Amino acid sequence: MPVREVLKMGDPRLLERSAPVEAFGTRALDALLRDMFDTMRALDGAGLAAPQIGVGLRVVIFGFARNARYPEAEAVPETVLINPELTPLSDDMEDGWEGCLSVPGLRGVVPRYRKLRYRGFDAAGHAIDRCVEGFHARVVQHEVDHLDGILYPMRIRDLRRFGFTETLFPGAPAGDD
Ligand code: NI
Repeated sequence: MPVREVLKMGDPRLLERSAPVEAFGTRALDALLRDMFDTMRALDGAGLAAPQIGVGLRVVIFGFARNARYPEAEAVPETVLINPELTPLSDDMEDGWEGCLSVPGLRGVVPRYRKLRYRGFDAAGHAIDRCVEGFHARVVQHEVDHLDGILYPMRIRDLRRFGFTETLFPGAPAGDD
């Protein structure tokens, strides 16, 4: 399966609201997910949303045991999440650095809910229902934002904390993030 081109900020397709998936366990959905995983792994991403490869469906993937781009982050289980619904479990917000494969070379500090419940479906249509916090919660919020046409720079509150990865974090692992 091919590694797909990741759309970059400025492409109007990244600003659209994606449509729900209506059929599960289909060859088309399996092929999409294979492409998404191949693309995410090739670029060392922590997650990827279907609209980032130009597919306007409510499908996100995320997870890693260890990620070179986020060396401090705890492991997040590899997850396919379709038609997600997020419910914050408290009003607590937490600032943290984010990058995005659609915004390569940059990082910014973004406030996210610290704890949340997420529900949705896997590729076969089985229900997923998890309560998570920390980096796991951050990654889910970032990916699900893509489904509503929101890129993380749109959520930065202090643009002084937005810049080039190689300048902000000299010596950090190189990566086209
Ligand atoms: Ni992203």
